[in-house]
Amino acid sequence: MGAIENAKVTVVGAGAVGSSTAYAMLIRKAARHVVLYDIARPKVEAEVLDLAHGTNFTGSSTITGGADIAVTAGSHVVVITAGAKQDPGQTRMDLAATNAKIIAGMMPQLLEVSPDAIFVIVTNPCDVLAVVAQQVTGLPAERVLASGTVLDTSRLRVRLAEEAKVATRSVHAHIVGEHGDTEFPLWSSATIGPVPLLDWRAKDFEGFRQEQLDAIAVEVRDAAYKVIQGKGATNYGIGLSVTRIVEAILNDEHAVLPVSTVLSEFHGIDGVALSVPSIVNATGAYPIRETHFDERELELLRTSAGAISLTAQSVMR
Ligand code: LAC
Repeated sequence: MGAIENAKVTVVGAGAVGSSTAYAMLIRKAARHVVLYDIARPKVEAEVLDLAHGTNFTGSSTITGGADIAVTAGSHVVVITAGAKQDPGQTRMDLAATNAKIIAGMMPQLLEVSPDAIFVIVTNPCDVLAVVAQQVTGLPAERVLASGTVLDTSRLRVRLAEEAKVATRSVHAHIVGEHGDTEFPLWSSATIGPVPLLDWRAKDFEGFRQEQLDAIAVEVRDAAYKVIQGKGATNYGIGLSVTRIVEAILNDEHAVLPVSTVLSEFHGIDGVALSVPSIVNATGAYPIRETHFDERELELLRTSAGAISLTAQSVMR
């Protein structure tokens, strides 16, 4: 299909996540036109003004927006961040009922004015809401992505890179499953450069021990709780992660990213959205069926699918 010229990306929701996503997209020159949309007019207008004041320093991208849905019309990508956010002590799944109503209500309107858009669901629980959004719109699965474990995967790579004394980008490891409490790393296929993770050695680094890897996995899984405890929300990490996904779409990159789409016949999983390594290009996201799972990883994938499926069924009743 090729890269999308003069791309327009709408971010729905002018809260901490939406505004930080718009900011990251401007700084990284991800799209020619960035639009911020929110029903809270004074808030969205203020965020747009503040962002626009910096565009002298960000290249040729424009930032516009407002509280009328017309501002979103003709978007190539629509990023959804609107909805209730996690408070300290809440899980992402606790937000399901409230946010499913919000997403189900606005998806048809957004699709009506941007009929060709690819949707990226960031609002939590993003996997459950991807199922809701896909069902409400009837769009093909590849056009409704949740940001999923792209951020968790970054968190994992950052920690492994620190320990192994190597560049983050040279760590090839993925967190898969729910973006939440049942997520897990695919250790069986993790490498640094071409070297299996457990074989890696460096100066002053004698190799990973399994207990250490298990502790890192827990740290990554619980990372958002720690950030929310300290500052009330997460926004910068997710803003950059979403920007990376948007770039892969707009540039037709065929990049491998662990986004979440409704799966069909994926290692026996059907009708549930969860993150697995997927090819992301200008027409959407495509799970990589050849991804290797050992027996334990397959068990964890099924557990994660079960948790998402249960919540998705309860909110769609
Ligand atoms: C986080 C939010 C985006 O993990 O769920 O930071």
